[in-house]
Amino acid sequence: MAFDIPAVPGFAFGGDYSAEQWPEPVWVEDVGLMKTAGVNLATVGVFSWALLETAPGRYEFDWLDRLLDLLAGHGVAVDLATATASPPPWFSHAHPESLPVGPTGTTIWYGSRQAYCPSSPAYRTAAARLVEQLATRYAGHPALAMWHVNNEYGCHISRCWCDISAAAFRDWLRNRYGDLAGLNAAWGTSFWSQRYTDWEQIIPPRDTPSYPNPTQQLDFHRFSSDELLACFRVERDLLHRLSPGVPVTTNFLGGLWDLDYWAWAREVDVVSMDHYLIAEHPQPYADLAFVADLARSLAGGRPWALMEHATSAVNWQPRNLAKPPGRLRRDSLAHVARGADSVLYFQWRASKAGAEKWHSGMVPHAGTDSKVWQEVVALGAELGALAEVVGSEVVADVAILLDWSSLWAQRQPSQPSVDLDPLAVIKGWHAALTEATITCDLAHPESDLRRYRLVLAPALYLVSDAGAANLTGFVAGGGTALVGPYSGVVDDNDHVRLGGYPGAWRDLLGVRVQEHFPLPAGARVALTDGGAGSVWTELAVPTDAEVLTGYADGPLAGSPALTRRAHGAGTAYYLTTLLAGAHLRDLLTRLARDAGVTPVLPDPPEGVTAVQRRHPDGRGYTFIATDGPTAPTLTVRRDGDPAAGTAPVGAAPPVASA
Ligand code: GLA
Repeated sequence: MAFDIPAVPGFAFGGDYSAEQWPEPVWVEDVGLMKTAGVNLATVGVFSWALLETAPGRYEFDWLDRLLDLLAGHGVAVDLATATASPPPWFSHAHPESLPVGPTGTTIWYGSRQAYCPSSPAYRTAAARLVEQLATRYAGHPALAMWHVNNEYGCHISRCWCDISAAAFRDWLRNRYGDLAGLNAAWGTSFWSQRYTDWEQIIPPRDTPSYPNPTQQLDFHRFSSDELLACFRVERDLLHRLSPGVPVTTNFLGGLWDLDYWAWAREVDVVSMDHYLIAEHPQPYADLAFVADLARSLAGGRPWALMEHATSAVNWQPRNLAKPPGRLRRDSLAHVARGADSVLYFQWRASKAGAEKWHSGMVPHAGTDSKVWQEVVALGAELGALAEVVGSEVVADVAILLDWSSLWAQRQPSQPSVDLDPLAVIKGWHAALTEATITCDLAHPESDLRRYRLVLAPALYLVSDAGAANLTGFVAGGGTALVGPYSGVVDDNDHVRLGGYPGAWRDLLGVRVQEHFPLPAGARVALTDGGAGSVWTELAVPTDAEVLTGYADGPLAGSPALTRRAHGAGTAYYLTTLLAGAHLRDLLTRLARDAGVTPVLPDPPEGVTAVQRRHPDGRGYTFIATDGPTAPTLTVRRDGDPAAGTAPVGAAPPVASA
């Protein structure tokens, strides 16, 4: 699952190369420029199905032959796309039943990209046929370093509500539940007269007068993720068979929450992630850190591939802000700090036509006499000088539990408060740790947690019995856990765990919550330690726990906000409200310290973040970034260098420090 492709021994540097958009003389110029910039990996052919198969079964590979030969001849390895992300118009026209359909029954047409139903047999067959051709033809090509299946599965179409999907959903449900009695029980269909008596009655959660059944919606999310994963598997298996030994990836998308990436990560040879800064995000680098840490966690802690990010502006935000000088380097190395062993962009050359013509590239419209190009060339040289970092790993002693089923279940309507967004809570806790320079992983609730000292469940509304027992076992074995509000309240079917919340961990925490008390919009409650809670409170009664902080005012004055209970060799904390800013950071820092976790910097000034990577032989590197609005800096230092102490790594300053 790690990014380790023999054809590219150092950092992989490059990006999507949409050569099909340019006449061949430009290719010749491109390979020269790639050499100048130190580009060693190009992702080729992502959106070229229409040019590779111009009519059913009529393949035109000559241009791709010439392109791969040219790249190989100039020392640029290729991450070769299977080109299945965008079926050509001839295909969609001939197979209108393959077009995706929305929940209201509206057909989503071709003329853009990704217009296919994941369950469509016609799409799957045509895609497999193309992959077979590509794999057979290029398996032995000297440029081939990796296969790139499809592109950002689910980015535009992650679910389809058509009749073909409905039939596939029924098959998936038969497989999950065996019989209708099982399905009716799991979906709680005694509610609102929803009992099913024949499989044919079951449909995806289409547009309904009021809320569709919550478990039906949850299962439809699970099915849809599995359905796209099945598309991936078809391609991957063909590639493994016809092109043995060449790693297969598909690029995940940071910020897409429709695919259960834990399940996907088990299926890819290389975890690769795309990330785009949201220019007007209040904390853009907190978001970057979160996605990079997620990518590393999906890769099991090993180096991962940053497959796409932008040299400057994108084209799809309301205001596409260009990156000021220095940001290109800072953003790219921020991913490296968190375990990326590649710096790849969308895309090599900015397009001249099409919907993305205002998206930046490594070669901008202005050409090489430009800020972007100069920064690209400088970064290519710097990555060469940083090559010793490749293969080192980020070590984290803290994990945040994250589960897609829980997100899908909680993010439905008809929850107690629209203000309690689980993802915002999870990201808030992650950001607080990042500010404290405490490195953390994301972890599946059922994964092996023993390598961590502190495990946080900021927002785990749904947890399976196995996940609940896993956290309890982690604490019993000596770990420290902090459970956030409204966690552990429902089971795998989104049924309430009765007898007082949080049913999954009442005994572990020694707390019994009688009732949830969400707060009115913008309201705050005072806490006995001088802090404040927002969004959410709970009427909790300690049954076997020490109350550390209570509510000082509001309807719950006197009841607990933060509790602690010793369990086995460890300690379990429960927080019944949301803390913000310094209060959250202080709590997490205190718990981390008590659990024996050392921050990278003992007392980081505001706006400074730091991460360490280390080789198994002990050689380590500290990446320190400052996030000022105008002058971002990022320094890479070699840890424990006997000659220079914390000398910057690289050829010479300011190579690794700006
Ligand atoms: C995604 C896609 C690319 C491109 C970029 C633009 O990441 O994979 O093809 O559309 O977005 O930011």
